[in-house]
Amino acid sequence: MGSEELEAIVARAAADFAAAPDPAALENAKAKVLGKTGELAAFRSSLGSLPAEERKAAGQSYNSAVQRIENSLEQRRKQLALAKLESRLAEEALDVTLPGRGRARGGLHPISRTWRRIEEIFGSIGFDVADGPEIETDWYNFTALNNPENHPARSMQDTFYVDLKDAQGLPLLLRTHTSPMQVRYARAWVDRHRRTAAMPPIKVIAPGRTYRVDSDATHSPMFHQVEGLWIDEDISFADLKSVYVDFLRRFFESDELRVRFRPSYFPFTEPSAEIDLQFASGPLQGRWLELSGAGQVHPQVVRNFGLNPEKYIGFAFGSGLERLTMLRYGIDDLRLFFDGDLRFLRQFA
Ligand code: DAH
Repeated sequence: MGSEELEAIVARAAADFAAAPDPAALENAKAKVLGKTGELAAFRSSLGSLPAEERKAAGQSYNSAVQRIENSLEQRRKQLALAKLESRLAEEALDVTLPGRGRARGGLHPISRTWRRIEEIFGSIGFDVADGPEIETDWYNFTALNNPENHPARSMQDTFYVDLKDAQGLPLLLRTHTSPMQVRYARAWVDRHRRTAAMPPIKVIAPGRTYRVDSDATHSPMFHQVEGLWIDEDISFADLKSVYVDFLRRFFESDELRVRFRPSYFPFTEPSAEIDLQFASGPLQGRWLELSGAGQVHPQVVRNFGLNPEKYIGFAFGSGLERLTMLRYGIDDLRLFFDGDLRFLRQFA
């Protein structure tokens, strides 16, 4: 074997190594040229039979060939290791310039915000917060509140009835207002203080869901009210006015409110009033909106609380949370609260 052939082997080995796509292929290529039965082995064993004067030069050529083959092998090994590292780095790459995925920021529904504000404001002036059933009996929703037997509010047109009967055999209903909470709360209070010499005043609000067969821009079949009740030995209509106007000022964060107490009628108050407020902004600016019914609690209702109306007197009110929210933000259609349209809701988040 001559030195030309040796050079050809070196060149072919370098080409094979360069073409090896991975370490396993590279090791195969190495065995093919450097292995025991590889291409160089024959040359090496022929060295012994050469005349002494040629042997040295041939030996040097052989050593140089092996050296160069090992160099190109080592070079390819390094290349493959580097390529592997690079592909792993690419795979695990973290692009710190990508915009963050973030967490969608939720927000409270505007009605929930109103609800919390009301609890906060009344809580700060000593009102307890009570909660009661949305499915009511005829007695609590109507009779105890002095509603006559034939009152139109009892009709199927106004009230959602439930397919269940109470102990008196009367159909249960979805409460049409939060006013039954006056009676529930007062009776439980009176019961609790039965043995107390002087009963502490009843001072409570009861926010919650209410239901009526009604639907337009200012009415929805499900809506929210907050009931208020303050009973003691000397609470007057003047107290109602000051407490309620003070509440409105704090709720709307304004002393410039246009509030109107209009004489009205409710079976459970005498005298009765409706409280209106004027829109200060939005598409309904200047328009009056009824916010609340209110009045001095009727003696018959005080009796139904289990109290003597000669001794105890006080006021009650029932206000619409949707109405308060519409006035606060200048919203002209209450149905927006229940459409679940995020473009609307996001404005309050
Ligand atoms: N419950 C009445 C309604 O829903 C509102 C109301 C009027 C509540 C007078 C009261 C009140 O507490 O005293 O229309």
